[in-house]
Amino acid sequence: MGDSNLLYLSRQDVEKVNLPMQRIIERVEAVFVEKGQGRTEMPPKPGIHPGPDAFIHAMPAYVPAMAAAGMKWVSGFPANPAAGLPYISGLLILNDPRTGFPICVMDCTWITAQRTAAASAVAAKHLCRKDAQSLAILACGVQGRSHLEALRLVLGELRQVRAYDIVPAIAEQYCAEAKALGLEAILADNAESAVRGADVIVTSGPILKQPTPVLAQDWVKPGAFLSAVDFDSYLQAQVFTEADLLFTDDLTQFHYYKDAGYFQQTPEPHGDLGQLCAGQATGRSRAEQTTIAVNLGLAIEDMAVSVEIYQKAKELQIGTRLDL
Ligand SMILES: NC(=O)c1ccc[n+]([C@@H]2O[C@H](COP(=O)([O-])OP(=O)(O)OC[C@H]3O[C@@H](n4cnc5c(N)ncnc54)[C@H](O)[C@@H]3O)[C@@H](O)[C@H]2O)c1
Repeated sequence: MGDSNLLYLSRQDVEKVNLPMQRIIERVEAVFVEKGQGRTEMPPKPGIHPGPDAFIHAMPAYVPAMAAAGMKWVSGFPANPAAGLPYISGLLILNDPRTGFPICVMDCTWITAQRTAAASAVAAKHLCRKDAQSLAILACGVQGRSHLEALRLVLGELRQVRAYDIVPAIAEQYCAEAKALGLEAILADNAESAVRGADVIVTSGPILKQPTPVLAQDWVKPGAFLSAVDFDSYLQAQVFTEADLLFTDDLTQFHYYKDAGYFQQTPEPHGDLGQLCAGQATGRSRAEQTTIAVNLGLAIEDMAVSVEIYQKAKELQIGTRLDL
């Protein structure tokens, strides 16, 4: 078309917009209200699988209230870190909902890290004890980091982090960063010592189709909240079956994943985050309830966050204009 109407935002450009985590949590919460009210369109993500436990997913969504329409095309390749590459890479395309024209192409890795943690924080608002003080992080990579950033904002009493990673140097670095934030940081030698006694547990290791989970029910303190970012790869089946409340972010996509071979031992969730945020389901009602969020990661979250990044990038004149 030759009118340079397409904006390209690199990873650096997206970070330069610097959307605060507090705002990302608000956007993710708002989009879950829209979803709960039935005002979003989001077909389950089709994917291709070019290697063992590797995926490239197409994630389209439309959120009329946010004038957000588009698709994320995101990959996760477990062998990448050994080759010095990030596990997650990908792009996101935004379309003008009035004409269908692509208006922006942006890197999606920062958004994926931030919105996933924001969804856990939204779940924590409904499912976690308000007086939670200690957080166990099993796998201290990109998600481990963004989860600390987001959960601190919704858990006002948080003061201790217990970090475990199969690569000790990564957990050591993580502890140093947590200390710099004014938190007590405990470097755990193993997953069990990190989890025992923790009020909040985040598992953010690799997602495996045929998992060999180690996190046992008797490690979990009654009343704990768990966010299983890596699906059922860390939590043994009994942890799911014994939980008082199990929520996911989208029931349709949960069933879609189950049909694709994931979650074979996982019971049916009590509901999804759309229902919790729209007031159609009840979250934690007693301190001793053990609760789990197993969020799958939704395109509506990506749209809710990316459309705001696009608007701010235009205001701040960040990015590169391209001809379509
Ligand atoms: N559910 C969602 O919405 C969602 C969204 C994005 C990413 N994810 C998943 O989150 C996970 C982490 O992604 P990331 O970008 O943080 O990856 P990353 O490569 O940055 O971090 C992964 C970390 O896990 C560690 N690790 C591997 N096996 C471990 C184990 N058994 N115990 C402890 N640590 C272990 C690695 O050393 C690494 O530090 C991936 O499985 C990814 O697919 C989920």
